[in-house]
Amino acid sequence: MKKFKNVTILDHPLINHKIAILRSVDTHTKDFRELVEEITMLLTYEAFKDVPTQVVEVQTPLEKCKQEMVSENSIAVIPVLRAGLGMVSGVHTLFPTAKVGHIGMYRDEETLQPQEYYCKLPDGIEKKRAIVLDPMLATGGSACAAINLLKSKGCRDIHQMSIIAAPEGVERLATEHPDVRIFVAVLDRGLNENGYIVPGLGDAGDRLFGTK
Ligand code: PRP
Ligand code: URA
Repeated sequence: MKKFKNVTILDHPLINHKIAILRSVDTHTKDFRELVEEITMLLTYEAFKDVPTQVVEVQTPLEKCKQEMVSENSIAVIPVLRAGLGMVSGVHTLFPTAKVGHIGMYRDEETLQPQEYYCKLPDGIEKKRAIVLDPMLATGGSACAAINLLKSKGCRDIHQMSIIAAPEGVERLATEHPDVRIFVAVLDRGLNENGYIVPGLGDAGDRLFGTK
């Protein structure tokens, strides 16, 4: 993935430790949800390194000083339903004022093509940085469709944040949207014949919401 300058694979021991537990078939809904939140916090730390900032004046108990802060109203997170919802609390723990937009998208199980069913974005999205949240970047079809939708609404500053990615998905997203910065916690081997990431973690939505 070194050929794509906009792709960051975190591959950090603490994240890898949490992903080992996340992958396990013996990890159940409560722990799964908490791990998704914690890994998202670690991804957020990295993805926010270049956020727009402003300098404010603060009165400490000792004196006044100038201090950098993340610019007000500059960030919107866009979870792709359903599984992206599990990542929102991880961002909000670190940056509670991020606005939230929702894109509803599911993969047709036969064709693997993304089907859009919902879109509600914050006012003024075209002036914000939009961070698309989806734990799984498999074929990249859902991410590309979500980003096409955001661009059609005027959004120009877009990041993608995913926990596990297949090389096929990263390659497709980085090629179709070279202007989008992609942050991935771990890169897996590939996709199986059903379009699932291997070794992966199975169906992220089902594991987060206990639907299977
Ligand atoms: C999963 C995942 C992504 C998509 C990834 O959603 O959360 O949105 O698949 O696959 P792709 O990269 O091949 O498009 P799914 O379609 O299972 O919907 P769900 O979250 O509602 O279960
Ligand atoms: N969606 C998932 O939830 N898991 C995969 O491995 C691929 C797509």
